[in-house]
Amino acid sequence: MGKTHSMLKRIAHLQERALSRLSQVGSLEALNDWRIEFLGKKSDLVTIQKRIRELPVEERPSVGAHSNRARKTLEEALENRKGELDKLRLDPLLQERIDVTLPGWAVGMGSLHPSTQVLREIQSIFAEMGFQVFDGPEIETDSYNFELLNMPANHPARDMWDTLYISDTVLLRTHTSPGQIRAMKAFCPEPIRVILPGKCYRYEAITSRSEVMFHQVEGLAVGKNITMADLKGVLIEFGRKMFGPKREIRFRCSHFPFTEPSVEVDMDCLVCGGSGCSVCKQTGWVEILGAGMVHPKVLENGGYAPEIFSGFAFGMGPERIFMLKHGIDDIRLFFRNDLRFLGQFE
Ligand code: DAH
Repeated sequence: MGKTHSMLKRIAHLQERALSRLSQVGSLEALNDWRIEFLGKKSDLVTIQKRIRELPVEERPSVGAHSNRARKTLEEALENRKGELDKLRLDPLLQERIDVTLPGWAVGMGSLHPSTQVLREIQSIFAEMGFQVFDGPEIETDSYNFELLNMPANHPARDMWDTLYISDTVLLRTHTSPGQIRAMKAFCPEPIRVILPGKCYRYEAITSRSEVMFHQVEGLAVGKNITMADLKGVLIEFGRKMFGPKREIRFRCSHFPFTEPSVEVDMDCLVCGGSGCSVCKQTGWVEILGAGMVHPKVLENGGYAPEIFSGFAFGMGPERIFMLKHGIDDIRLFFRNDLRFLGQFE
């Protein structure tokens, strides 16, 4: 009796296992493998059927009937599955069926590039002071980049900018200052209050402090009775909005061919607070931009009579501003596309 009982159990178990495996079969080849495994000559079911002989005579019919029923069930299930697979194969709609309830792949969120972030911040600070954005081309003529800014051919001041020339007269702008002339020509004789953000290029060795491509933001105001006090007011306001209300701003005499007088603007070092450290080279001050009163010749080149109009201009490097703000010591990080760097400023 024990042997019969265990055989019946094996049949039931076998059938269950076969049906469950069948539901996972997804192709006709896999279906054939399934048939060989569960109904083939070497299948468990056939083995069981062969061993019915070993049972007492009176118990054989019952086990025989069970095994026949199991075989029939599996054969029918096989036919059904084959029908289903055929249908799937022929029906493109069923083939493309997707499970819309499956959870999707998580999509990584990008973030704005640090240069874009700081450009936007600069723009919004100046927008509050009434400056609008004016665009100039990155490919410029020698005339706009130098001559009209009071640097005729062979002027020694041109050495301040290592230039990438496209031809004798066309170059990649080395600064955003040529936009001053373009803005003046576009606005003349109306008063102007613009900033000009954009990319600049220099033929320079790439180091932690200089890149061949970087951004600048130029500023220009032209009108009647504009004085150096206006320039100071605007730049102090900018410095404190960008770096915090307690910042000290200092104006130091300098020279640029397109401004007279010219200044460089420093801010007390925000790393050491003015006591001296490696960031400020022990001076307590860091330079943030160059500026000055627009040179009379430049005003004239833009179409404004210098006896009636005056103006101020400034130029800054947004990457440098961002580096000072976040304590970054290598400008090359901006353009290396290393997500470990970029991802820190989301
Ligand atoms: N164009 C200068 C540079 O690239 C920066 C600059 C200095 C711009 C003084 C100005 C200015 O408008 O007034 O180094």
